[in-house]
Amino acid sequence: MTHSAVDPRAVAPVAIGFEPADPAFVADPYPVYRRLRDDHPVLWNPATNQWLISRHADVNRLLRDRRLGRTYLHQATHAEMARPEPPAWHAPFHELNDAGMLDMEPPDHTRLRRLVLRAFTPRTVEAMRRRIQGIVDGLIDGFDGAGEVDLIADFVEPLPVTVIAELLDVPEADRHLLRPWSADFCLMYELDPPDASARKAVQASLEFGAYLRELLAERRRRPGDDLISALAGVVDGGDTLTETELIGTCVLLLNAGHEASVNGAGNAWWTLFRHPEALARLRADPSLLSSALEELLRFDTPLSLFERWVLEPIEVEGVAIPRGGEVALLFGSANRDQAAFERPDELDLARDPNAYLSFGAGIHYCLGAPLARLEIEVAFGTLLRRIPRLELVEPPRWKPTFVLRGLQALRVRV
Ligand code: HEM
Repeated sequence: MTHSAVDPRAVAPVAIGFEPADPAFVADPYPVYRRLRDDHPVLWNPATNQWLISRHADVNRLLRDRRLGRTYLHQATHAEMARPEPPAWHAPFHELNDAGMLDMEPPDHTRLRRLVLRAFTPRTVEAMRRRIQGIVDGLIDGFDGAGEVDLIADFVEPLPVTVIAELLDVPEADRHLLRPWSADFCLMYELDPPDASARKAVQASLEFGAYLRELLAERRRRPGDDLISALAGVVDGGDTLTETELIGTCVLLLNAGHEASVNGAGNAWWTLFRHPEALARLRADPSLLSSALEELLRFDTPLSLFERWVLEPIEVEGVAIPRGGEVALLFGSANRDQAAFERPDELDLARDPNAYLSFGAGIHYCLGAPLARLEIEVAFGTLLRRIPRLELVEPPRWKPTFVLRGLQALRVRV
C-alpha cells in the first residue's frame, strides 16, 4: 500500500474491531492495532471526531510537532476553533484539569514544568530509593500468613499513592480519599465520557479542590519540608505559580503519579505471569530488571492513547488534517509496530534498543518517569526476591476503561 492510497474514511473503526467499550477489545487490542497500522494508519473515527494514528513513526513525530498542542485555548476560543463549549456544569473539572501543566502549552507549560521538575530530577528521585524500599518491604511484610492477596489492591496501588502523598505530605488519615478522587477525576479522560462519569469527575473535582485549598492554606501558615510548601514559597527568576496552578499541579501529580503507575505495574505483572520463561529468567538474573521494566511498559502500555489538537494544518501519511482537528495517538499500537521493533509481539526482557512511547515524547514527556521507573524497579525486584514462589491464582479481569487501561484485580498466592 502506498501513502496516496490512504483513505481516512475507508471504513468505520468499529467495523474492524476498534471498540473501546467492548471488554474483549480492551483485553487484547493488539490484533486490531495491527490492522490499523497495516491498512488504515490514519483513520477517521466518527464516534469521537478524531483521527486515529497508529504507526510508531507518526505517533513519535506528532508528539514532538509544535503545530499540535494538548490544548488550543492559549491561541483561540472554543468558538474560534469551531468546537462546542463544554457544558457549564463541567467547570469544576476544567478549573483543576486545565491548570495542570499537562493541559498547558508554552509559555505557561514551560514555566510550570521548570518549577516542578526540580522535585523530579533523577538525582532527587534516587534520594527517595530508601523510602520506597521501606514502603515496599512494609507491604510485603503485610502478606505474612495471608495465603492469597490481590496484587493490585494490596501491593501495586498503595506504593505510588503513598509516595506522592508523602511528597505532598498529605496527612495519613486522609490518604484513603486520594485514590477514589483520582479514579473518578480520571473518568473524564476516557473517549466521550457519559454524563454519569462526568458527574463523578465533577464531584471529585469539587471535593479534591476544596481539600487541597485547605491543605495549601495550612502550609502557608506553617510551611513544612514538602512539595506543596516548596511550590507555595517559590519565586524563581520571577516565575511563580498562581494558587489555581498550584492546586492543578497537585491534582496532576496525584493522578498522573498513580493512575498510570498502578496500571503500568499491574499490566506488567500480568504479562510476566503469562510468560513463565521470562519470569523465571528475571528471577534468576535481577540485573535484567532495568531493561525488563522498559520492555514490560512497551509490551502492554497502561495509557492507550493521548490526544492532540491540530493548531496548524498538518499532513500525515498523505492525509491532510485541518486546524481544529483532533488526533488520537495510539501508544499501544505504536509500541507494537513491526516497523519500529523486531518481533514486536514477543516479550524480550533484554530488548535493546527499545524506543517505546509509553512515557510520551516531546515537551510533555512524562515528568514522573524517573520516579515511576524507580518504583517499579524496587517493587518488582523486592517481591521477586522475597516471594520466589509467587503464583497467579486466576486470570484477571480488566477495568472497563480504555484510555487508562489496567486490571481490576490480580489474585496471587504468596
Ligand atoms: C508507569 C508510569 C507512568 C506512565 C506510563 C506515564 C506516562 C505519561 C505520559 C504518556 C505522559 C505524556 C502525556 C502526553 O504527552 O499527552 C505523562 C505526562 C506526565 N506524567 Fe507520567 N506516567 C507515569 C508515571 C508518572 C508519575 C509517577 C508521575 C509523577 C509523580 C507522573 C507525572 C506526570 C506529569 C506531571 C506529566 C505532565 C508532563 C507535562 O505536561 O510536561 N507520571 N506521563
